[in-house]
Amino acid sequence: MERLCLPEIFNFAAGPAVMPVTVLAQAQRELLSWSGSGISMLETPFTGDAFKAVLKQTRDNLRSLLNIPENYHILFMHGGASAQFSLVPLNLLGAADRADYIETGYWSRKTMREASRYCNVNVAASSSNTSFDRMPDTWRLDPGAAYCHITSNETANGVQFYDIPDTNDLPLVADMTSDFLSKPIDIQRYGLIYAGAQKNIGPAGLTIVIIRDDLLGRAHTTTPAVFNYQTQAEAGSMLNTPLTFAIYLTGLIFHWIAGMGGVEAMARNSEQRSARLYQAIDASDGFYHCSIQPAYRSHMNVCFTLDNNALTPFFLNSAAKEGLINLKGHPMVGGVRASLYNAMPDTGVTALINFMHHFVEKHHHYV
Ligand SMILES: Cc1ncc(COP(=O)(O)O)c(C=O)c1O
Repeated sequence: MERLCLPEIFNFAAGPAVMPVTVLAQAQRELLSWSGSGISMLETPFTGDAFKAVLKQTRDNLRSLLNIPENYHILFMHGGASAQFSLVPLNLLGAADRADYIETGYWSRKTMREASRYCNVNVAASSSNTSFDRMPDTWRLDPGAAYCHITSNETANGVQFYDIPDTNDLPLVADMTSDFLSKPIDIQRYGLIYAGAQKNIGPAGLTIVIIRDDLLGRAHTTTPAVFNYQTQAEAGSMLNTPLTFAIYLTGLIFHWIAGMGGVEAMARNSEQRSARLYQAIDASDGFYHCSIQPAYRSHMNVCFTLDNNALTPFFLNSAAKEGLINLKGHPMVGGVRASLYNAMPDTGVTALINFMHHFVEKHHHYV
């Protein structure tokens, strides 16, 4: 199914990002009357059986997509991933006064800055000395830390974890906002996973938290009840009005992922799509350049620069005229960023690669 626009638009935004057209079309069809009810999902009370069934189905589908064991709770929270930067220390520190953080780019730095308001942040590993061009492999964990936090995919820098060192008994906490549901994960390695929905799985604001049950009940007494993992787990994420429409839409996306072959298929697709794009960058004789070490290049956010940086605005404008939109790099990083989330069709990557080839042919004499 295509959108009704000419030329076809391919949205490479880092988030909010491209969603499956079939899901948007279904939401449109159901907007005025959801499931024959005569009212919209937007108008459906959260305390009624209809919404409770949607919430249960969405939770069950996520459990099955990621094989989440029964001793993990799935919470649907407000506030975006940034709220979790504070909620993780507020809920998990317990009696401890410190936590380990792995510094790998823009988003982990933001997380650390926020966490330092609540505890001592031990930088257990960092790749800042190589300008975040890789994930650090030597970690020095603090025996007194309450947990160890990683950012599994650095959206702004385009660097991703593929191999995470063992933290043994120390709970591993991961911000998976920009690679959630893009591949299978071994949930049991994690104490807590959180992800803002606006990349791979739905509308901004909704935040998924997956937490192992032994980590509940440690929240600081000042933690607001709606942001307390234990109270939300006990209330089934319905302590206050949940993000009903966002949860419904995310449920449609979970269903779409399952129908496409699950997270295994998502992983194969994103690996192939990103490999084709990196290959085009590497084969451009230096016209385009990706500074991330090959083993750590993100399958989700392909970041690159033009050798002649003065051409970058022209590249972005020309791409947009061809329907290749939102390719501008993160403001703190610059350059170009093509986000290839689950809903990006292969044809979008082909169109981008063709555009890049033509751009080189026209402009290589400026290099
Ligand atoms: C890795 C990562 N973490 C956190 C965030 C912040 O998400 P939110 O805007 O939902 O707070 C983002 C947003 O782009 C992100 O990419």
